[in-house]
Amino acid sequence: MLALTLSCLPLAAAIAGPSATAVHPDRWPSAHWPFPADPALEYKVAGLMAKMTVEEKVGQLIQADILSATPEDVRKYHLGAILAGGNSKPGGALTADAKQWLALSDAFYRAAMDRHDGRPAIPLLFGIDAVHGHNNTVGATLFPQNSALGNARDPELVRQIGAATAAEVRATGINWTFAPTIAVPQDVRWGRSYEGYSQDPKLVAEYSRAMVEGLQGQVGTPQFLDDAHVIATAKHFLGDGGTKDGKDQGDAEISEQQLIDVHAAGYPPAIDAGVQTVMASFSSWNGVKMHGNKALLTDVLKQRMDFQGLLVGDWNAHGQIPGCSNTDCPIAYNAGMDMLMAPDSWKGLYEHTLAEVKSGTIPMARLDDAVARILRVKFRAGLFTAGLPSAQPLARHPDQVVGSPAHRALARRAVRESLVLLKNNGGLLPLDPRKRILVAGEGADNISRQCGGWTLTWQGTGLNNKDFPGAQSIGAGIADQVKAAGGHAEIAPDGSYTHKPDVAVVVFGEDPYAEFQGDLPNLLYRPGDDHDLELIRHLKAQGIPVVAVFLSGRPLWVNREINAADAFVAAWLPGSEGEGVADVLLRTRDGRIAHDFHGRLAYAWPRTALPGQAPPQFPLGYGLRYTDHATLGPLPEVSGIHGEQVPVGNYLERGKPVHGYAASLVGADGDPVPANVSAASAGDGSLRMSAIDFHAQEDSRRLAWTSARARFTVQARSPLDLDRQTNGDVLLVATLRVDALPGADAWVGLGCGHGCQGRVPLGAALAALPQGRWTRVGVPLKCFRAAGADMHHIDRPFELGAGAGTALTVFRVALGTDADQVVRCPR
Ligand code: BGC
Ligand code: BGC
Repeated sequence: MLALTLSCLPLAAAIAGPSATAVHPDRWPSAHWPFPADPALEYKVAGLMAKMTVEEKVGQLIQADILSATPEDVRKYHLGAILAGGNSKPGGALTADAKQWLALSDAFYRAAMDRHDGRPAIPLLFGIDAVHGHNNTVGATLFPQNSALGNARDPELVRQIGAATAAEVRATGINWTFAPTIAVPQDVRWGRSYEGYSQDPKLVAEYSRAMVEGLQGQVGTPQFLDDAHVIATAKHFLGDGGTKDGKDQGDAEISEQQLIDVHAAGYPPAIDAGVQTVMASFSSWNGVKMHGNKALLTDVLKQRMDFQGLLVGDWNAHGQIPGCSNTDCPIAYNAGMDMLMAPDSWKGLYEHTLAEVKSGTIPMARLDDAVARILRVKFRAGLFTAGLPSAQPLARHPDQVVGSPAHRALARRAVRESLVLLKNNGGLLPLDPRKRILVAGEGADNISRQCGGWTLTWQGTGLNNKDFPGAQSIGAGIADQVKAAGGHAEIAPDGSYTHKPDVAVVVFGEDPYAEFQGDLPNLLYRPGDDHDLELIRHLKAQGIPVVAVFLSGRPLWVNREINAADAFVAAWLPGSEGEGVADVLLRTRDGRIAHDFHGRLAYAWPRTALPGQAPPQFPLGYGLRYTDHATLGPLPEVSGIHGEQVPVGNYLERGKPVHGYAASLVGADGDPVPANVSAASAGDGSLRMSAIDFHAQEDSRRLAWTSARARFTVQARSPLDLDRQTNGDVLLVATLRVDALPGADAWVGLGCGHGCQGRVPLGAALAALPQGRWTRVGVPLKCFRAAGADMHHIDRPFELGAGAGTALTVFRVALGTDADQVVRCPR
């Protein structure tokens, strides 16, 4: 029965699945591929293809990740391309510098080109996400993220950033970037909003052309795809910024006309500018996955818009098409995909695709068309003659190119241009650098937070200032200028000071995230955690004027913070050159204003935390100048969000309670001791907690009981409504390790106010686990309801108790849908 259900699934989905919304290619804007017919190029392509076996042709259609394919694999399977995903670094390290990239590029280049088997040598495409500078390289210039650049409304700046990024990429031997993202995000709950320049299609269209020309050089000039430029990618085709509720990889439930008017805006200019590759979107349009939408990929993009370059897939995105898997997807190739990104699935995909070409499932003409497109891109980019990556001009001295002073100066200018001034009551800004200035807040000296996701790691997390040689934090930039002017600066994230300051700059904002990890249910900034607001109010209460500098990938509801501060600057994700903020916030030492504010909102700023509420608090195009002398009255402080919409899913991360939660050890005597630290002990010694290393240093907590009456508990600052999750079959999942388990009296519970708790026995489940091994143990939320928890008012989303002698180590506690071991509800 089970086997039958499973094997029928893909077929059933393919038959019963949503049918594509009708597409009318003639309603779409046309574009013009800017390369004239080129008989010499066609002659080379045809000559090469005549020598290629069908195996070699199929290899060209596949892109593997550097962590899953070796140079030897590339040689053997004739793979057309490799990529380095956001977490893929040479040798599997966390980060990499230019020299390491070069060595890797050389090794792969040789595998494709130094052939001793008499087979044709075809150079590899090597793609990487250089999306705000060459952000996977230690020491690179990290430009402001795209949502920042939109505010600058300066296509020429964007063109220069493209050229600088291209040079840094080439200096590391890489020839292709997966940029620009020309999404037009309509709902900033989307975790990728910061990758989009604006919600305004007109602005995206202008920037699209500028960035493509910056990265590739201008078609028709000698600079076009020369040794200082790289192949660009317009992504993600199409409608990635239009998904319902801003869900990443979600479904754009919109009309064809909206797709045309809003989301397609950047494609014709990119094609007119000669963009060599387009990446298809993970998302769907009216229920149909883009990777399988032939009408949009072939009839619209390739025919109507005249795109003659190579259409590449996204990270195993083809596997999401009903009827496909990561290793098998003729539907995508037949819909018009030329190359699929199969990071870890490339070998299976190669084998299935080869068989499907041989059987005719994928027509030979489609294969030849795809291969020809790929080879033309390789010829146009000069890859056949470029030579060994490390011997190319910019790669000979990578340290003079990567993070060069000229590039950093450009990035610093971009920071200045993209800041948006939302409030400046009493003309507090610009500040006099000869005064005493305190820079406070978690973002005061935090380069990682300035950079956001897609920075050295995929999520941009796990980093500290040491990982950014040559970069400067916002606080350090302010301190430098203040010291040079004869003033005094102190940097103290917690707002403490040795001398009372004349003014405080509080830098705070979102933690880094990428893709779906940044999706939000609403526009609340850090729900349940007001400590930034409290810091601003605390400084104000001491009579210190406050400038708030907000770091975020998108506009969020911060009316309370705006009200609390005298001045408010939206700094977005400015990147590595923090001193650009000081350039605008401070006067020169002789009292002049060197740089006024320039940015105008490229995303409307919300009035409540509910998405799409009109009118916005600050409309598109809003942004004050120093000459405006405007006073902003108090803004409404009603978020529009009620308890149940607060994100509720994550309680303990890397051994510590997340924002908005607190942990404690409650002794057998009933007295709680705070446990937000690495080590603690209940007052009566009945429960002890110590730090243990799992993935990283001290990222887990070992709990050792000497009394069954002691418990570990995580409290929420405001009660959670988990009713919906309970009905949705969600689990409470703890990632833990059993170290010692003498009895069977362990339990896990949810607390729902004084005297209210739902407790589920855990002893039998834990006893079944191998000791000393990490496991994810899941308890269905409905078990807690059955055990008496009021799921509408959960104030302790995790409690753990066990008998004397038990030792358990906990890494994470979160709601989830899968676990290694699922506990059954007691009857
Ligand atoms: C993202 C793309 C990216 C690719 C390679 C995907 O998950 O959606 O934008 O280019 O990974 O890292
Ligand atoms: C990779 C990213 C990729 C993502 C897709 C990550 O592991 O590093 O490049 O975009 O997976 O989910």
